[in-house]
Amino acid sequence: MRALVTAGPTREPLDPVRYLTNRSSGRMGYAIAAALKRRGWDVLLVSGPTDLQPPLGVDLLAVETAREMLSACRSAWPDCHALFGVAAVADYRPARRSRTKLKKGGAEETTLDLVRNPDILASLARHKGDRLAVGFALETGVGRREALRKLREKRLDFIALNGPSALDAPEASLVLIDADGAETPLGPLPKGRLATAIVRTVLHSPRMSQHGRQA
Ligand code: CTP
Repeated sequence: MRALVTAGPTREPLDPVRYLTNRSSGRMGYAIAAALKRRGWDVLLVSGPTDLQPPLGVDLLAVETAREMLSACRSAWPDCHALFGVAAVADYRPARRSRTKLKKGGAEETTLDLVRNPDILASLARHKGDRLAVGFALETGVGRREALRKLREKRLDFIALNGPSALDAPEASLVLIDADGAETPLGPLPKGRLATAIVRTVLHSPRMSQHGRQA
């Protein structure tokens, strides 16, 4: 069994020295990859820029932008049985990427034109058949309704709902919601143990056996 895991932030360049990104450390995605590997899965980790070493035995494909991440994932997805979308993909990228450093000239104010990035998880899960797709929802405030919307719109089997305190933090807690709306609260735990708990819950769920999938 082979799993595709996205992790880390994406980095969207504006010019040769500047980019848009976010605070994701990649820890949760790397921990999910390690947990799957420990259960005997082959794992391809498609990761945006992080300071982390890939877990032992996990294949790493390093990318920068959301579009590079999508293209790497599209090539890998046909050979995979499960997808864990853990990356904090930048929703927008600068509309233009300057080949030379942008100069401020005399301007006191400026604006940045942004265009939408592709939704990697939604685009892959659309063609998932009875393969497994798991996403994460990062929400401020009460996020259950939003998480359920993402679960349905992106055609996921599970979504892990967490808050911004999880970003760049060693510990986190979250609620794992399945496509029938059943909730499993997990944590607070260090991200390694939380990832183990997520993988265990997903692979042992009735959804897995319903679809005749192998844990
Ligand atoms: N995701 C993705 N590609 C994107 C945006 C999100 O693959 N362009 C994935 C993330 O990896 C995560 C899930 O979709 O598993 C939800 O990401 P999140 O940032 O919570 O939500 P968005 O779909 O981006 O929606 P919004 O920014 O409006 O909350």
